[in-house]
Amino acid sequence: MPRHFLRDDDLDQAEQSAILDLAATLKADRYLERPLVGPQTVAVIFDKSSTRTRVSFAVGIAELGGQPLILETASSQLGGKETPSDTARVLERQVAAIVWRTYAQAGLEQMAEGALVPVVNALSDDFHPCQLLADLLTIRERKGALAGLTVAFVGDGRCNMAQSYLLAGTTAGMHVRIGAPTEFAPEAAVVADAERIAAATGGSATVVTDAVEAVRGADIVVTDTWVSMGKEDEKAHRVATFGSYKVDQALMAQADDEAIFLHCLPADRGYEVEADVIDGPRSVIWDEAENRLHAQKALLTWLLSQ
Ligand code: CP
Ligand code: NVA
Repeated sequence: MPRHFLRDDDLDQAEQSAILDLAATLKADRYLERPLVGPQTVAVIFDKSSTRTRVSFAVGIAELGGQPLILETASSQLGGKETPSDTARVLERQVAAIVWRTYAQAGLEQMAEGALVPVVNALSDDFHPCQLLADLLTIRERKGALAGLTVAFVGDGRCNMAQSYLLAGTTAGMHVRIGAPTEFAPEAAVVADAERIAAATGGSATVVTDAVEAVRGADIVVTDTWVSMGKEDEKAHRVATFGSYKVDQALMAQADDEAIFLHCLPADRGYEVEADVIDGPRSVIWDEAENRLHAQKALLTWLLSQ
């Protein structure tokens, strides 16, 4: 059966490291690996909006020698008349892999169950594992080895980025701290999984409610929008709740002197981060966005060679 990438912990530490190594190699030589040949196609399906994910998968699949087939759920049968399982039965006979941005993690699990081709999570409500491969590649470029580094994520601890940091960061042997209000703490099951992974890799997973406590001495500071896709109706409550989690110069001053700042984008300047941080010298957001391309090319190459 094929390997799938539905959550960050679908890769163990050695596999994650191998994919990051390949991503760095592909970044140095964009046309080195071409596992997709001729008419091979990868379906990339969107239930939610996207700029980076759409472009980086389309460009990456083409650079690997294949063809991207970009589908909008709204104009397909998926999400309306057809189940994820039936959609997989149709697609797996025609495409080399299925990449899907959706809402519920359970839908991805249904898509992957019994699928004959790899299924990749291009963002769900719970996880954003492709983004984390790009983030880890970016951190490696700036900091060298990942193991032993401390990363602080502040803001919506229940969002896909925070939960993916817990799983991917601990897989890499990092110390992951989440600073979030109690109401928006990560799911207990995800924290438990991160703690179990950390016990094996030498990392750690910590959840606190104080942003300063989370960031103090950190090597990397990360945040994300306070209003993830699908949560727009909660905007007023979220803006009121997350006020003390804004990443500004005062919060960055609590981190290590050499700390860098990451944000997966799109960003709401003046809300989760001030412009002088995200557009300042510690920010590595444009490398992070570019690294989606290299990381996903490496991921697809690895998945298709299993
Ligand atoms: N970071 C990210 O996934 O961006 P898009 O929503 O533009 O794909
Ligand atoms: N947490 C954000 C990430 C966007 C790439 C969202 O889900 O909208």
